[in-house]
Amino acid sequence: MHILHVVGARPNFMKAAPVLRAFAAHIDVSQAVIHTGQHYDAQLSVVFFDQLGIPRPDVNLHVGSGSHAQQTAQVMSRLEPVLLQHAPDWVLVYGDVNSTAAAALVCAKLQVRVAHVEAGLRSFDRSMPEEINRIVTDHVADLLLTPSSDGNDNLLREGIAPERIHLVGNVMIDTLLRLLPLAQSHRVSGLPDRYALVTLHRPANVDEGPFLRDFLDTLGDLSQDLPVIFPVHPRTRRRIANLHLARNGKNHLHVTDPLSYLEFLALQESATVVITDSGGIQEETTFLGVPCLTVRENTERPVTVTLGSNVLVGRDLHRLRQEIQKIVNGRRPETRVPPLWDGHAAERIVSELLSLDTLCQGLALAKRATGSSTT
Ligand code: UD1
Repeated sequence: MHILHVVGARPNFMKAAPVLRAFAAHIDVSQAVIHTGQHYDAQLSVVFFDQLGIPRPDVNLHVGSGSHAQQTAQVMSRLEPVLLQHAPDWVLVYGDVNSTAAAALVCAKLQVRVAHVEAGLRSFDRSMPEEINRIVTDHVADLLLTPSSDGNDNLLREGIAPERIHLVGNVMIDTLLRLLPLAQSHRVSGLPDRYALVTLHRPANVDEGPFLRDFLDTLGDLSQDLPVIFPVHPRTRRRIANLHLARNGKNHLHVTDPLSYLEFLALQESATVVITDSGGIQEETTFLGVPCLTVRENTERPVTVTLGSNVLVGRDLHRLRQEIQKIVNGRRPETRVPPLWDGHAAERIVSELLSLDTLCQGLALAKRATGSSTT
Protein backbone atom coordinates (compact mmCIF):
# COMPACT_ATOMS: atom_id res chain seq x y z
CA MET A 1 0.00 0.00 0.00
CA HIS A 2 1.32 3.45 -0.93
CA ILE A 3 0.22 6.41 1.20
CA LEU A 4 0.69 10.13 0.69
CA HIS A 5 0.41 12.48 3.62
CA VAL A 6 -0.44 16.06 2.65
CA VAL A 7 0.50 18.71 5.21
CA GLY A 8 0.86 22.44 4.88
CA ALA A 9 0.56 24.46 8.07
CA ARG A 10 1.82 24.30 11.63
CA PRO A 11 -1.19 22.55 13.20
CA ASN A 12 -0.96 19.73 10.62
CA PHE A 13 2.50 18.58 11.64
CA MET A 14 1.77 17.25 15.14
CA LYS A 15 -1.22 15.35 13.71
CA ALA A 16 0.67 13.72 10.84
CA ALA A 17 3.73 12.76 12.92
CA PRO A 18 2.18 9.86 14.89
CA VAL A 19 0.41 8.47 11.81
CA LEU A 20 3.69 8.44 9.88
CA ARG A 21 5.36 6.64 12.77
CA ALA A 22 2.58 4.08 13.09
CA PHE A 23 2.66 3.25 9.37
CA ALA A 24 6.47 3.05 9.42
CA ALA A 25 6.13 -0.14 11.49
CA HIS A 26 4.51 -1.89 8.49
CA ILE A 27 7.04 -2.98 5.89
CA ASP A 28 4.39 -3.50 3.22
CA VAL A 29 3.42 0.20 3.41
CA SER A 30 5.37 2.91 1.57
CA GLN A 31 4.81 6.55 2.45
CA ALA A 32 5.61 9.98 1.09
CA VAL A 33 5.15 13.42 2.66
CA ILE A 34 3.90 16.29 0.50
CA HIS A 35 4.34 19.74 2.07
CA THR A 36 2.17 22.34 0.36
CA GLY A 37 4.38 25.16 1.67
CA GLN A 38 1.39 27.07 3.11
CA HIS A 39 3.64 27.71 6.10
CA TYR A 40 7.20 28.35 5.01
CA ASP A 41 8.94 30.21 7.86
CA ALA A 42 11.35 27.89 9.65
CA GLN A 43 9.70 28.73 13.00
CA LEU A 44 6.34 27.52 11.70
CA SER A 45 7.58 24.53 9.72
CA VAL A 46 11.15 23.10 9.70
CA VAL A 47 11.47 23.32 13.48
CA PHE A 48 8.34 21.19 13.83
CA PHE A 49 9.52 18.60 11.33
CA ASP A 50 12.77 18.27 13.27
CA GLN A 51 11.27 18.05 16.76
CA LEU A 52 8.42 15.76 15.75
CA GLY A 53 10.74 13.44 13.82
CA ILE A 54 8.86 13.86 10.52
CA PRO A 55 11.00 12.91 7.53
CA ARG A 56 11.92 15.76 5.17
CA PRO A 57 9.07 16.27 2.66
CA ASP A 58 9.44 14.25 -0.52
CA VAL A 59 7.82 17.12 -2.39
CA ASN A 60 7.34 20.77 -1.43
CA LEU A 61 4.74 22.62 -3.49
CA HIS A 62 5.93 26.05 -2.22
CA VAL A 63 2.50 27.66 -2.46
CA GLY A 64 3.26 30.30 0.21
CA SER A 65 0.81 32.99 1.30
CA GLY A 66 -2.03 34.55 -0.66
CA SER A 67 -5.75 35.10 -0.55
CA HIS A 68 -7.82 32.03 0.31
CA ALA A 69 -8.72 31.49 -3.34
CA GLN A 70 -5.12 31.88 -4.50
CA GLN A 71 -3.69 29.61 -1.82
CA THR A 72 -6.34 26.92 -2.36
CA ALA A 73 -5.99 27.09 -6.14
CA GLN A 74 -2.20 26.89 -5.99
CA VAL A 75 -2.32 23.78 -3.80
CA MET A 76 -4.80 22.17 -6.18
CA SER A 77 -2.95 22.86 -9.40
CA ARG A 78 0.47 21.93 -7.97
CA LEU A 79 -0.73 18.81 -6.19
CA GLU A 80 -2.55 17.25 -9.13
CA PRO A 81 0.56 16.19 -11.12
CA VAL A 82 2.17 14.85 -7.92
CA LEU A 83 -0.83 12.62 -7.26
CA LEU A 84 -0.83 11.40 -10.85
CA GLN A 85 2.86 10.57 -10.58
CA HIS A 86 2.66 8.82 -7.19
CA ALA A 87 -0.67 7.04 -7.83
CA PRO A 88 -1.21 6.45 -4.08
CA ASP A 89 -3.69 3.97 -2.64
CA TRP A 90 -4.67 6.52 -0.02
CA VAL A 91 -4.03 10.20 0.65
CA LEU A 92 -4.25 11.39 4.25
CA VAL A 93 -5.19 14.99 4.96
CA TYR A 94 -5.20 16.58 8.41
CA GLY A 95 -7.22 19.21 10.28
CA ASP A 96 -8.90 22.19 8.70
CA VAL A 97 -6.41 24.46 6.98
CA ASN A 98 -6.64 25.59 3.35
CA SER A 99 -4.16 22.89 2.30
CA THR A 100 -6.47 20.22 3.76
CA ALA A 101 -9.55 21.19 1.77
CA ALA A 102 -7.57 21.84 -1.42
CA ALA A 103 -5.87 18.43 -1.28
CA ALA A 104 -9.12 16.60 -0.53
CA LEU A 105 -10.78 18.22 -3.56
CA VAL A 106 -7.94 17.21 -5.88
CA CYS A 107 -8.17 13.61 -4.63
CA ALA A 108 -11.94 13.50 -5.07
CA LYS A 109 -11.69 14.74 -8.65
CA LEU A 110 -8.94 12.25 -9.50
CA GLN A 111 -10.87 9.45 -7.75
CA VAL A 112 -7.97 8.87 -5.38
CA ARG A 113 -9.14 7.63 -1.98
CA VAL A 114 -8.72 10.27 0.70
CA ALA A 115 -8.97 9.96 4.47
CA HIS A 116 -9.57 12.98 6.70
CA VAL A 117 -7.86 12.88 10.07
CA GLU A 118 -9.75 15.08 12.59
CA ALA A 119 -13.04 14.83 10.73
CA GLY A 120 -16.46 15.95 11.90
CA LEU A 121 -15.55 18.99 13.99
CA ARG A 122 -17.98 21.89 13.58
CA SER A 123 -18.10 25.36 15.06
CA PHE A 124 -21.35 26.07 13.13
CA ASP A 125 -19.79 29.42 12.25
CA ARG A 126 -19.28 29.75 8.52
CA SER A 127 -17.48 33.07 8.89
CA MET A 128 -14.46 30.98 9.95
CA PRO A 129 -12.40 29.86 6.93
CA GLU A 130 -11.62 26.64 8.80
CA GLU A 131 -15.33 25.75 9.06
CA ILE A 132 -15.64 25.93 5.26
CA ASN A 133 -12.53 23.75 4.97
CA ARG A 134 -13.98 21.17 7.41
CA ILE A 135 -17.30 20.91 5.59
CA VAL A 136 -15.73 20.66 2.13
CA THR A 137 -13.15 18.11 3.24
CA ASP A 138 -15.62 15.89 5.08
CA HIS A 139 -18.08 15.84 2.20
CA VAL A 140 -15.54 14.76 -0.41
CA ALA A 141 -13.41 12.41 1.70
CA ASP A 142 -13.91 8.64 1.54
CA LEU A 143 -12.96 7.94 5.14
CA LEU A 144 -13.70 10.22 8.08
CA LEU A 145 -11.55 9.65 11.15
CA THR A 146 -13.01 11.53 14.08
CA PRO A 147 -11.32 12.57 17.35
CA SER A 148 -14.47 12.55 19.51
CA SER A 149 -18.05 11.30 19.27
CA ASP A 150 -19.50 14.76 18.61
CA GLY A 151 -17.68 14.51 15.27
CA ASN A 152 -19.63 11.33 14.44
CA ASP A 153 -22.90 13.00 15.42
CA ASN A 154 -22.20 16.03 13.22
CA LEU A 155 -21.33 13.90 10.20
CA LEU A 156 -24.38 11.65 10.58
CA ARG A 157 -26.60 14.74 10.88
CA GLU A 158 -25.14 15.98 7.59
CA GLY A 159 -26.19 12.76 5.88
CA ILE A 160 -22.78 11.10 5.60
CA ALA A 161 -22.97 7.31 5.41
CA PRO A 162 -22.12 5.70 8.78
CA GLU A 163 -19.69 3.21 7.20
CA ARG A 164 -17.43 6.11 6.15
CA ILE A 165 -17.13 7.40 9.75
CA HIS A 166 -14.73 5.94 12.32
CA LEU A 167 -14.05 7.26 15.80
CA VAL A 168 -10.29 6.86 16.31
CA GLY A 169 -9.44 9.44 18.98
CA ASN A 170 -7.11 12.40 19.02
CA VAL A 171 -3.78 12.10 17.20
CA MET A 172 -2.49 15.38 18.68
CA ILE A 173 -2.60 13.70 22.06
CA ASP A 174 -0.48 10.83 20.66
CA THR A 175 2.22 13.40 19.94
CA LEU A 176 1.77 15.19 23.24
CA LEU A 177 2.11 11.97 25.24
CA ARG A 178 5.19 10.87 23.32
CA LEU A 179 7.00 14.18 23.62
CA LEU A 180 5.93 15.48 27.04
CA PRO A 181 8.97 14.00 28.83
CA LEU A 182 11.31 15.57 26.26
CA ALA A 183 9.42 18.87 26.46
CA GLN A 184 10.01 18.92 30.21
CA SER A 185 13.75 19.01 29.50
CA HIS A 186 13.18 22.01 27.18
CA ARG A 187 11.68 24.10 29.97
CA VAL A 188 13.06 27.62 29.82
CA SER A 189 15.16 28.34 32.90
CA GLY A 190 14.24 31.26 35.13
CA LEU A 191 10.50 31.01 34.47
CA PRO A 192 8.26 32.53 37.14
CA ASP A 193 6.18 30.06 39.20
CA ARG A 194 2.94 31.49 37.91
CA TYR A 195 2.30 33.00 34.49
CA ALA A 196 -0.27 33.35 31.74
CA LEU A 197 0.54 31.95 28.31
CA VAL A 198 -1.17 33.68 25.40
CA THR A 199 -1.64 33.02 21.67
CA LEU A 200 -3.87 34.93 19.26
CA HIS A 201 -3.92 34.65 15.49
CA ARG A 202 -7.49 34.26 14.17
CA PRO A 203 -8.28 36.87 11.51
CA ALA A 204 -11.49 37.74 13.40
CA ASN A 205 -9.39 38.73 16.44
CA VAL A 206 -6.26 40.25 14.97
CA ASP A 207 -7.40 41.86 11.73
CA GLU A 208 -9.64 44.28 13.57
CA GLY A 209 -7.51 47.08 15.08
CA PRO A 210 -9.72 48.19 18.02
CA PHE A 211 -10.16 44.65 19.38
CA LEU A 212 -6.45 43.88 19.10
CA ARG A 213 -5.59 47.14 20.88
CA ASP A 214 -8.05 46.43 23.70
CA PHE A 215 -6.79 42.86 23.99
CA LEU A 216 -3.18 44.05 24.31
CA ASP A 217 -4.28 46.60 26.92
CA THR A 218 -5.95 43.78 28.87
CA LEU A 219 -2.72 41.75 28.73
CA GLY A 220 -0.72 44.80 29.82
CA ASP A 221 -2.97 45.21 32.88
CA LEU A 222 -2.90 41.49 33.65
CA SER A 223 0.89 41.48 33.50
CA GLN A 224 1.02 43.79 36.52
CA ASP A 225 -0.21 40.83 38.65
CA LEU A 226 0.77 37.79 36.61
CA PRO A 227 3.65 37.65 34.12
CA VAL A 228 2.38 37.12 30.57
CA ILE A 229 4.23 35.17 27.87
CA PHE A 230 2.93 35.87 24.37
CA PRO A 231 4.56 34.03 21.44
CA VAL A 232 3.30 35.99 18.44
CA HIS A 233 2.21 34.47 15.12
CA PRO A 234 3.58 36.35 12.04
CA ARG A 235 0.07 37.49 11.07
CA THR A 236 -0.47 39.03 14.53
CA ARG A 237 3.03 40.54 14.61
CA ARG A 238 2.39 42.28 11.31
CA ARG A 239 -0.92 43.66 12.57
CA ILE A 240 0.69 44.91 15.78
CA ALA A 241 3.45 46.60 13.79
CA ASN A 242 1.05 48.13 11.23
CA LEU A 243 -1.17 49.53 13.94
CA HIS A 244 1.80 50.73 16.03
CA LEU A 245 0.46 48.74 18.96
CA ALA A 246 3.79 47.49 20.33
CA ARG A 247 3.77 47.59 24.13
CA ASN A 248 7.25 48.42 25.29
CA GLY A 249 6.59 49.92 28.71
CA LYS A 250 4.92 46.86 30.30
CA ASN A 251 7.87 44.84 31.40
CA HIS A 252 5.92 41.77 32.57
CA LEU A 253 4.47 41.23 29.09
CA HIS A 254 7.00 39.02 27.33
CA VAL A 255 6.39 39.05 23.59
CA THR A 256 8.38 36.39 21.73
CA ASP A 257 8.66 34.90 18.25
CA PRO A 258 6.63 31.71 17.65
CA LEU A 259 8.02 28.89 19.77
CA SER A 260 8.94 25.35 18.86
CA TYR A 261 6.61 22.45 19.72
CA LEU A 262 8.65 21.33 22.72
CA GLU A 263 9.16 24.81 24.18
CA PHE A 264 5.47 25.62 23.83
CA LEU A 265 4.32 22.32 25.31
CA ALA A 266 6.59 22.83 28.33
CA LEU A 267 5.17 26.32 28.81
CA GLN A 268 1.59 25.05 28.54
CA GLU A 269 2.11 22.33 31.09
CA SER A 270 3.25 24.75 33.80
CA ALA A 271 1.04 27.73 32.95
CA THR A 272 -1.38 29.15 35.51
CA VAL A 273 -3.77 29.93 32.65
CA VAL A 274 -3.65 29.76 28.88
CA ILE A 275 -5.48 32.42 26.87
CA THR A 276 -5.92 31.53 23.20
CA ASP A 277 -8.00 31.49 20.04
CA SER A 278 -6.31 28.35 18.69
CA GLY A 279 -8.16 25.06 18.22
CA GLY A 280 -5.40 22.60 19.11
CA ILE A 281 -4.41 24.44 22.28
CA GLN A 282 -7.94 23.99 23.66
CA GLU A 283 -7.35 20.24 23.32
CA GLU A 284 -3.83 20.20 24.73
CA THR A 285 -4.84 22.21 27.82
CA THR A 286 -7.80 19.88 28.34
CA PHE A 287 -5.47 16.91 28.33
CA LEU A 288 -3.00 18.66 30.66
CA GLY A 289 -5.79 19.92 32.97
CA VAL A 290 -4.53 23.50 32.61
CA PRO A 291 -7.22 26.23 32.70
CA CYS A 292 -7.85 27.61 29.21
CA LEU A 293 -9.78 30.76 28.30
CA THR A 294 -10.75 30.82 24.64
CA VAL A 295 -11.23 34.21 23.04
CA ARG A 296 -13.89 33.04 20.58
CA GLU A 297 -17.67 32.94 20.53
CA ASN A 298 -17.77 29.24 19.62
CA THR A 299 -15.64 26.15 19.44
CA GLU A 300 -15.53 23.19 17.08
CA ARG A 301 -14.15 21.21 20.03
CA PRO A 302 -17.05 21.17 22.52
CA VAL A 303 -15.62 18.33 24.61
CA THR A 304 -12.92 20.71 25.78
CA VAL A 305 -15.71 22.70 27.46
CA THR A 306 -18.00 19.87 28.62
CA LEU A 307 -15.24 17.57 29.90
CA GLY A 308 -12.09 19.66 29.80
CA SER A 309 -10.67 22.86 31.21
CA ASN A 310 -11.82 25.23 28.49
CA VAL A 311 -14.07 28.26 29.04
CA LEU A 312 -15.33 30.26 26.06
CA VAL A 313 -15.09 33.91 27.00
CA GLY A 314 -16.00 35.19 23.53
CA ARG A 315 -14.59 38.56 22.58
CA ASP A 316 -15.76 40.00 25.87
CA LEU A 317 -12.62 41.35 27.51
CA HIS A 318 -14.47 42.21 30.74
CA ARG A 319 -15.44 38.53 31.02
CA LEU A 320 -11.84 37.56 30.21
CA ARG A 321 -10.60 39.67 33.14
CA GLN A 322 -13.21 38.10 35.46
CA GLU A 323 -12.30 34.55 34.46
CA ILE A 324 -8.58 35.26 34.83
CA GLN A 325 -9.23 36.62 38.31
CA LYS A 326 -11.09 33.45 39.33
CA ILE A 327 -8.15 31.33 38.20
CA VAL A 328 -5.59 33.59 39.88
CA ASN A 329 -7.68 33.26 43.06
CA GLY A 330 -7.22 29.51 42.92
CA ARG A 331 -10.15 28.11 40.91
CA ARG A 332 -8.96 25.03 39.07
CA PRO A 333 -11.70 23.25 37.11
CA GLU A 334 -12.32 19.53 37.52
CA THR A 335 -11.46 18.05 34.18
CA ARG A 336 -11.69 14.70 32.44
CA VAL A 337 -9.73 13.49 29.45
CA PRO A 338 -12.15 12.64 26.59
CA PRO A 339 -12.40 8.97 25.58
CA LEU A 340 -9.71 7.71 23.16
CA TRP A 341 -7.36 10.63 23.81
CA ASP A 342 -4.99 7.94 24.96
CA GLY A 343 -1.89 8.01 22.76
CA HIS A 344 -3.11 5.26 20.41
CA ALA A 345 -5.24 7.13 17.87
CA ALA A 346 -2.66 6.74 15.08
CA GLU A 347 -2.54 2.97 15.63
CA ARG A 348 -6.31 2.85 15.24
CA ILE A 349 -6.03 4.85 11.99
CA VAL A 350 -3.48 2.37 10.65
CA SER A 351 -5.69 -0.62 11.55
CA GLU A 352 -8.68 1.03 9.86
CA LEU A 353 -6.77 1.66 6.62
CA LEU A 354 -5.08 -1.74 6.57
CA SER A 355 -8.36 -3.57 7.11
CA LEU A 356 -10.08 -1.48 4.43
CA ASP A 357 -7.25 -2.27 2.05
CA THR A 358 -7.54 -5.99 2.75
CA LEU A 359 -11.29 -5.74 2.20
CA CYS A 360 -10.81 -3.90 -1.11
CA GLN A 361 -8.26 -6.46 -2.31
CA GLY A 362 -10.66 -9.25 -1.37
CA LEU A 363 -13.50 -7.56 -3.25
CA ALA A 364 -11.29 -7.03 -6.30
CA LEU A 365 -10.28 -10.71 -6.28
CA ALA A 366 -13.90 -11.80 -5.89
CA LYS A 367 -14.93 -9.48 -8.75
CA ARG A 368 -12.20 -10.89 -10.98
CA ALA A 369 -13.19 -14.47 -10.09
CA THR A 370 -16.89 -13.78 -10.83
CA GLY A 371 -15.90 -12.03 -14.07
CA SER A 372 -13.79 -14.99 -15.27
CA SER A 373 -16.45 -17.58 -14.32
CA THR A 374 -19.14 -15.77 -16.35
CA THR A 375 -17.07 -15.37 -19.53
C1 UD1 B 1 -3.40 29.00 9.16
C2 UD1 B 1 -4.75 28.28 9.18
C3 UD1 B 1 -5.30 28.29 10.59
C4 UD1 B 1 -4.30 27.76 11.60
C5 UD1 B 1 -3.00 28.56 11.46
C6 UD1 B 1 -1.93 28.08 12.40
C7 UD1 B 1 -6.08 28.47 7.13
C8 UD1 B 1 -7.29 29.09 6.54
N1 UD1 B 1 -5.71 28.95 8.35
O1 UD1 B 1 -3.64 30.36 9.52
O2 UD1 B 1 -6.46 27.46 10.63
O3 UD1 B 1 -4.82 27.89 12.89
O4 UD1 B 1 -2.53 28.41 10.10
O5 UD1 B 1 -0.82 28.90 12.33
O6 UD1 B 1 -5.50 27.59 6.54
N2 UD1 B 1 2.87 33.91 7.33
C9 UD1 B 1 4.20 34.05 7.58
N3 UD1 B 1 4.99 32.95 7.50
C10 UD1 B 1 4.50 31.72 7.20
C11 UD1 B 1 3.14 31.59 6.94
C12 UD1 B 1 2.33 32.68 7.03
O7 UD1 B 1 4.69 35.14 7.83
O8 UD1 B 1 5.28 30.74 7.16
C13 UD1 B 1 2.00 35.11 7.45
C14 UD1 B 1 1.73 35.73 6.11
O9 UD1 B 1 1.59 37.09 6.27
C15 UD1 B 1 0.38 35.17 5.74
C16 UD1 B 1 -0.28 35.10 7.11
O10 UD1 B 1 0.77 34.73 8.01
O11 UD1 B 1 -0.30 35.97 4.83
C17 UD1 B 1 -1.38 34.11 7.20
O12 UD1 B 1 -0.90 32.79 6.81
P1 UD1 B 1 -1.96 31.69 6.33
O13 UD1 B 1 -1.26 30.44 6.03
O14 UD1 B 1 -2.82 32.29 5.25
O15 UD1 B 1 -2.91 31.53 7.57
P2 UD1 B 1 -2.60 31.47 9.13
O16 UD1 B 1 -3.09 32.72 9.76
O17 UD1 B 1 -1.20 31.04 9.41
